[in-house]
Amino acid sequence: MNWQKSLKSKILESEPLSSHTSFRIGGPAEFFIRPRNIDDLKSLLESAKRYKMAFRVIGAGSNILVSDKGLKGVTLSLNSPCFRRIAFRNNCVEVGAGRTLNQFIQNLRKHCLSGAEFLVGIPGTIGGALSMNAGIILRAESQELRAKNIGDLVETVSVMDYNGKIKNLNKKGIRFNYRSSSLSKYIILGARLKLKKAKKKEIDKRIKEYLKVRKINQDYSHPSAGCVFKNPCGDSAGRLIDLCGLKGRRVGDACISSKHANFIINLGRATATDVLELMSLAKKEVKHKFGINLEPEIKIWV
Ligand code: EPU
Repeated sequence: MNWQKSLKSKILESEPLSSHTSFRIGGPAEFFIRPRNIDDLKSLLESAKRYKMAFRVIGAGSNILVSDKGLKGVTLSLNSPCFRRIAFRNNCVEVGAGRTLNQFIQNLRKHCLSGAEFLVGIPGTIGGALSMNAGIILRAESQELRAKNIGDLVETVSVMDYNGKIKNLNKKGIRFNYRSSSLSKYIILGARLKLKKAKKKEIDKRIKEYLKVRKINQDYSHPSAGCVFKNPCGDSAGRLIDLCGLKGRRVGDACISSKHANFIINLGRATATDVLELMSLAKKEVKHKFGINLEPEIKIWV
């Protein structure tokens, strides 16, 4: 096709998306591309428009369930050096959307910058985390809930709209909600985040504590996409699914984790269809027992 000739970036055809998702599930992408620079990203957008091709951006692939049939059109990854840049200015950091959260935490640690440690262990990229306002929910002994989300750290976010126009949005112009944001309608290029100076020792201590809590409560034994459903207001989807007695329930090689019922793990050859079947079982049982509608947190790409 003509559009392919004008690009400097490599185009992979029929690239198995199971290699790009934390679930290890997903059929082939018709075209899989890591744009080398902004210009290539722009011309890709133009081509997608002109040839009416579907167009999606994949981050770390840690919060998506991709169809077993794969995806038509262009699947784009910002995992290239141009989109992984990082620069420090006083207590602020400018970071590209393609950098992983775990790399980012290590970069901050080196510069003795604190405030983002709660993101440690989340297998996402900066772009994905901003788009869905990734974070954690802290439970005080009083049972009071407190959230820490990446949106709290944002000063500005640079984005490209689907016409190829770059915009610099400041904090006030962005809506951050629980596991969603107004940024999801753009291609996120990078952000400027504000942190505070701290001693490396204190940062290390916090990282260790957050990782410990994750390891105790969550299931890292097999590939997964983290929590599958959003928490309903004031409760935990995991607790509700657990109370329905669904821990350990299997469809094919997909299994509701025995450690945390809001995790579905891939025991080997699970398909998207298996996962969807388990999700609809959990949804049905929770609705039946508690009258609560669970909503998926993961994005379902079919
Ligand atoms: N619980 C059960 N059974 C289970 C799972 C949980 O009884 O199978 C109970 C726990 O004992 C606890 C309560 O439910 O009393 C809450 O569980 P947990 O502390 O594990 O937190 P969560 O509400 O299930 C949320 C986020 C996690 C985040 C943790 C920790 C969502 C959907 N989940 O989980 O985020 O790591 O808090 O901050 O917002 C993710 O988004 O992918 C994710 C894993």
